[in-house]
Amino acid sequence: MANQNLLSLSTFSLFLSTKPALNLSMLPSKTPLFFFYFFFISTLFTNSFSSPVSITLTPKTLTKSGDSVKIQWTGIESPSDYDWLGIYSPPNSSNDNYIGYVYLSSCKNWKSGSCSIELPLVNLRSNYEFRIFRWTEKEIDKKNLDHDHNPLPGTKHLLAKSKELGFELGGGPEQIHLALTEKDDEMRVMFITGDGKENYVKYGEEEDEMDEMVKTVVRRYEREDMCDSPANESIGWRDPGFIHDGVMKNLKMEKRYYYKVGSDSGGWSATHSFMSWDGNSDETNAFLFGDMGTSTPYLTFMRTQDESKSTLKWVLRDIEALGDKPSFISHIGDISYARGYSWLWDTFFTQIEPVASKVPYHVCIGNHEYDWPLQPWKPDWAQTVYKMDGGGECGVPYSLKFTMPGNSSVLTGTRAPATRNLYYSFNSGVVHFVYMSTETNFLPGSDQYNFIKHDLENVDRKKTPFVVVQGHRPMYTTSNEGRDAPLRDRMLEHYEPLFVKNKVTIALWGHVHRYERFCPMKNYTCGEEEEGLPVHVVIGMAGQDWQPIWEPRPDHPKDPIFPQPERSLYRAGEFGYTRLFATKEKLTLTYIGNHDGEPHDMVEILSSGRVLKGVADSSNKVVVKSTFSWFVKGASILVLGAFMGYVIGFISHAKRVAASGTSWTPVKSDDV
Ligand SMILES: [Fe+2]
Repeated sequence: MANQNLLSLSTFSLFLSTKPALNLSMLPSKTPLFFFYFFFISTLFTNSFSSPVSITLTPKTLTKSGDSVKIQWTGIESPSDYDWLGIYSPPNSSNDNYIGYVYLSSCKNWKSGSCSIELPLVNLRSNYEFRIFRWTEKEIDKKNLDHDHNPLPGTKHLLAKSKELGFELGGGPEQIHLALTEKDDEMRVMFITGDGKENYVKYGEEEDEMDEMVKTVVRRYEREDMCDSPANESIGWRDPGFIHDGVMKNLKMEKRYYYKVGSDSGGWSATHSFMSWDGNSDETNAFLFGDMGTSTPYLTFMRTQDESKSTLKWVLRDIEALGDKPSFISHIGDISYARGYSWLWDTFFTQIEPVASKVPYHVCIGNHEYDWPLQPWKPDWAQTVYKMDGGGECGVPYSLKFTMPGNSSVLTGTRAPATRNLYYSFNSGVVHFVYMSTETNFLPGSDQYNFIKHDLENVDRKKTPFVVVQGHRPMYTTSNEGRDAPLRDRMLEHYEPLFVKNKVTIALWGHVHRYERFCPMKNYTCGEEEEGLPVHVVIGMAGQDWQPIWEPRPDHPKDPIFPQPERSLYRAGEFGYTRLFATKEKLTLTYIGNHDGEPHDMVEILSSGRVLKGVADSSNKVVVKSTFSWFVKGASILVLGAFMGYVIGFISHAKRVAASGTSWTPVKSDDV
């Protein structure tokens, strides 16, 4: 039967697609074309539904994002490892518009023709449907490839369709994430619902006494707001739901607050909690990274970032280790890598909720949120810099799904709402954090330049002895990245003098998907340790894996030898993130590797601006306590460990020259 079914489908497909020579005009002129098509379409349906292949779903509806459905199939004759399951949402998507797929051979007993898999799913506010197809090696289409150039499975032979799978109504909002506002006694919470009805935030100091309540502001965006494909096409666009934004006010300093969001009619979320801010705290804790992206539990045609799971796992560990100390997350551009495929934004916000519902989640804009051909600011020198990396989103999902402090915005020049969350700053304990946009006008004369200049010139260094500036595209990198060179030149020309003059402690950048720490420097030249020059660190290693090689030797550009310039003190290919811990006296930035969750590099900077190297510790174990003193200890141990490894030859490619003019010693350098 299955073969018969396949035959009929193939015949139909062949008839339509490979026999154009059959000229319909050759048919008798009065042949009712309608019946002609009807015959084939009914053949298709008859065969499809008489197929012995069936799919059953358990349960029939899911409660919330992250719940798993068991997908069970039976009756596949002569199973092939090319058979696959397509994931569709909404269910009326055409066969080619699957959002993801799973090969049936990933199931242990697939050769029996019956098997089942469990798939955790995200609530996309429309139902799912699953379809099983047979695909053959001969049908590999070299033009139909995924982002990594693997062939995408073909949809010529449909074997079975499932019933629809939805999410229960009344399950409450999803995708909850916090952010700081301009006021220390506030905390913003944002979330998504499927309808635009009134929603609230209930909060209080006791879990069973959430007596305070605020109503949310609701906004959304439309398909017409997207400025290009795929964001405005059927494969990319999905209804984004309603974006809610509520601000909890009059919070006491550094207290644990409990909250939930929703409404009596639409349901309430689970109860979450966070530590309120303390503007006068003498300690700062933060987790910082760029370019994290998201991970799907199925294959898809876009490159996704499985390492994001590991980054979030370790960050969550660290947040829990902090206990009742406030902290926040800083994700400096290239946020979800949705690039116009809306369901990846839903996946991203679902994935970060376990951390973003506990601590503020701060962002700055990256090329993958924004770049589009007609973007309003694209000077001649930047024609090769700014391209179309945003997948037609033109900053709209980024601008509406987050609300950062300040009121920076630029008009899109289209019907789309203005691009927001571009540049802002806030104090966290002893550190002044500044966020900038490398995607919109940053040159002298621009609102952004004026803001950053004024901001840096007016930091109260008694209150915040440390200043950390963050942006997406780096001012410095030693990766072999030519596209952004004109942008780096402008950044160096206009921002490095600002940073040096105003004694910026650390400049953090993303975009390059590796960790790289430089000596304190200006104009590519290392300075003295007590000079107070900015330390640039590239931290785009949180998830995205594609990356150009390091710079080769100029006179041997094709040889795979990548000398590490003196200014680059540590560079690594491992995924990970950074932890920042600061007191009035000292700031410590530590690089944690995802492969082991341990510190692998660190820099310490005193409030005088003096840069110290890592300090060795006599113990040999990283002890995780609910205090950040272990950051320093742990990092020190690792520095010692790396040094020992260096000595006994484990690190065969280590750079052996300390940066001249400083007391720095590179502890490790990884070739990629
Ligand atoms: Fe980027």
